[in-house]
Amino acid sequence: MEKKIRKNEEYVVDIIDYGMEGEGIAKIDNFTVFVPNAMQGETCKIHIVKVLSSYAYAKVVEIIKKSEHRVKEDCDTYQRCGGCQLRHMDYEETLNIKQRKIENLLQKTFGEDSGIKIAKTIGMGNPYHYRNKAQYPVGTNKQGEPVIGIYAQRTHEIIPMENCLIQLPISEQIAFAIYKFMKENQIPAYNEKIGEGLLRHIVIRVGLHTHEIMCVLVVNGKKLIKEQELVELLVKRFNVKTVVKNINQKNTNVILGPENIVLHGDGYIYDTLGEYTFKISPMSFYQVNPVQAELLYQIALEMADLDKEDIVFDLYCGIGTIGIFASKYVKKVYGVEVVEQAVEDAKENAKINQVKNIEFLSGNVETVFTNLMEKKNIYPDVIIVDPPRKGLEEITITNMLAVEPKKIIYISCNPATMVRDMELLKEKYETKLMQPVDMFPYSKHVEVCALLELKNYQ
Ligand SMILES: C[S@@+](CC[C@H](N)C(=O)[O-])C[C@H]1O[C@@H](n2cnc3c(N)ncnc32)[C@H](O)[C@@H]1O
Repeated sequence: MEKKIRKNEEYVVDIIDYGMEGEGIAKIDNFTVFVPNAMQGETCKIHIVKVLSSYAYAKVVEIIKKSEHRVKEDCDTYQRCGGCQLRHMDYEETLNIKQRKIENLLQKTFGEDSGIKIAKTIGMGNPYHYRNKAQYPVGTNKQGEPVIGIYAQRTHEIIPMENCLIQLPISEQIAFAIYKFMKENQIPAYNEKIGEGLLRHIVIRVGLHTHEIMCVLVVNGKKLIKEQELVELLVKRFNVKTVVKNINQKNTNVILGPENIVLHGDGYIYDTLGEYTFKISPMSFYQVNPVQAELLYQIALEMADLDKEDIVFDLYCGIGTIGIFASKYVKKVYGVEVVEQAVEDAKENAKINQVKNIEFLSGNVETVFTNLMEKKNIYPDVIIVDPPRKGLEEITITNMLAVEPKKIIYISCNPATMVRDMELLKEKYETKLMQPVDMFPYSKHVEVCALLELKNYQ
């Protein structure tokens, strides 16, 4: 019989595992309690804050026995900020948590002994200042003063922050210069509650290898006060290569609106990954951690073990990075991507890198994959997929099972949907290996590349 626990009660518990968000897990008479900030191996006094039918949440009142992996937090805003979740432990432990997350998911879906090998999570040598893309919300504080920073956990309260340990210092310097300019020139900050004000986000992207900088000013309106002066400042002081005004007048959580107006430069930047150069436009996806992205692509290619006669589908291809990496080992690559600007970039990227055996198709995977086979009679030997967090749609799974490529390389930033899809594919595909890569150090997130092989393939 499970014990009834109640809100506001206090207990002393052992933390026995980690949950999906990196929070500690305790059991009180077999009833699961999630304890943010508690670490496996610790004994804590906890205060129950919420009780649901099958689990509860608690906060730490006192750590009675500390984990040897607990460290002093190195960021002043860590406890409030939504950016990092794992700064109270050493880096090794963050990697263990990510590994555990995947092990737990496999166990839940495939049972105790899935037989699926999970390689050790590959961390970064230097897990600091790794993000090439910073997105700063702009708003007002309770006093009505403009504020920029980062959203607090689970809310849209903007926490001003300095010396962020995952962003590039140059991104922060640029954002602060814009903030200062905004205050001096009384540019009104956007107020999302009433939909008024002008500047709503500052997006900065930096080419890690080229050092080219793109600055996107997201504006609730067509005209930004003194925009030419602001552009001059950004170009002169920070050598920004391109400045784009993005118009977003909708009351939405989506950061970028549909219209881009180039205020300076060409409206895009370049970066290099491995031997290739990539054009990146404001609307296009590009991996936020290029050091780990290069590694991820190498792993994907090793798993794919491609053949000169292979036809490869690179589904959810973004600006064509993976397909271009794969192109020199195969007969032909077809890339499919829904964002028009990314497809344009991908086509340009094929040209820049003189890749001739690749074709990019614009549209959603669900339709284009079907059309490639049914209308054009083109069938893949190998499929590489890198879908958004929600994973694959049912029709894509059905298509894969019908067409039977010899291998599927599944890349994902959400192991939960990835494991769900592996289960849906298991009647014909055996997952041979999963390789987690720490693409987002000190956050709860992890990227995984998996190799699925067609059963009984000759
Ligand atoms: C995680 S990103 C991967 C991009 C690329 N593979 C890379 O490594 O840079 C996912 C991409 O899928 C695209 N996307 C999302 N839903 C899609 C759909 N239904 N069909 C085609 N592309 C889609 C997004 O625009 C994004 O570019």
